[in-house]
Amino acid sequence: MGAGLLGALALAALALGTLGSGRTGTVTALQLSARWAYCFFWPAYVGGALASLWGAKFQGLARRGRELGLAFAAAMLVHLAMIIRIYAISSRPPIPLQSAVYFGIGLAFAYLMALLSVPALGTRLSPGGRRILFTVGMEYIALAFLRDFLHDPFDGSLRHLLGYLPFTTLAFGGLLLRGLMYAQRLRRGVIHRREVRSTRGTGNAVSDFRR
Ligand code: HEM
Repeated sequence: MGAGLLGALALAALALGTLGSGRTGTVTALQLSARWAYCFFWPAYVGGALASLWGAKFQGLARRGRELGLAFAAAMLVHLAMIIRIYAISSRPPIPLQSAVYFGIGLAFAYLMALLSVPALGTRLSPGGRRILFTVGMEYIALAFLRDFLHDPFDGSLRHLLGYLPFTTLAFGGLLLRGLMYAQRLRRGVIHRREVRSTRGTGNAVSDFRR
């Protein structure tokens, strides 16, 4: 959490210090804080998928999901502070209302999950409800990042495109890994159900025989 918050604070201070505390500096601080936060979100998002697809060597990463998620939420506090600043200094909204609502829901998910990762609060939700909320929340935030990274990728220059490329690649890679994980779970579920059905069938056949 310290790394998430302090890193984002340092980047925002650098942007505001070098580019000024007006619009340019604040937008750059928004961009840098979001990208820094993504460095914690991405491993939290794919850790479980890597562990379930390739096993033991990624278990350590999968176990660190909570810490990484909290570091992401801490870094997004600086994004939130810069959002408040950009609204305060702009004469018109910096992004359309629909986008603000869409990204606002992402932030709400981030802090709801952070709260529920506190054991005393998390146990108030059933394990099933918690799993659904975390799955929906993580997928929603992943799509919010992808949407932002894909915004105007060819705008301006090749430099702009190259600046976004590592992030869009990670974002698509993350979606692919999670998709593979869901497909694997589905396959395992089908095989398990088939096995249960065939065991029941054998069991019935044996009890029929006994009768
Ligand atoms: C989980 C929620 C959020 C995520 C994942 C997110 C993600 C991002 C990302 C990746 C960028 C950098 C885009 C770039 O590099 O060009 C960014 C910038 C920005 N974000 Fe957020 N954001 C979130 C919440 C919000 C909210 C709630 C608002 C405002 C209501 C907001 C307003 C902005 C603005 C104004 C920028 C600067 C846009 C520009 O480049 O001109 N964000 N955000």
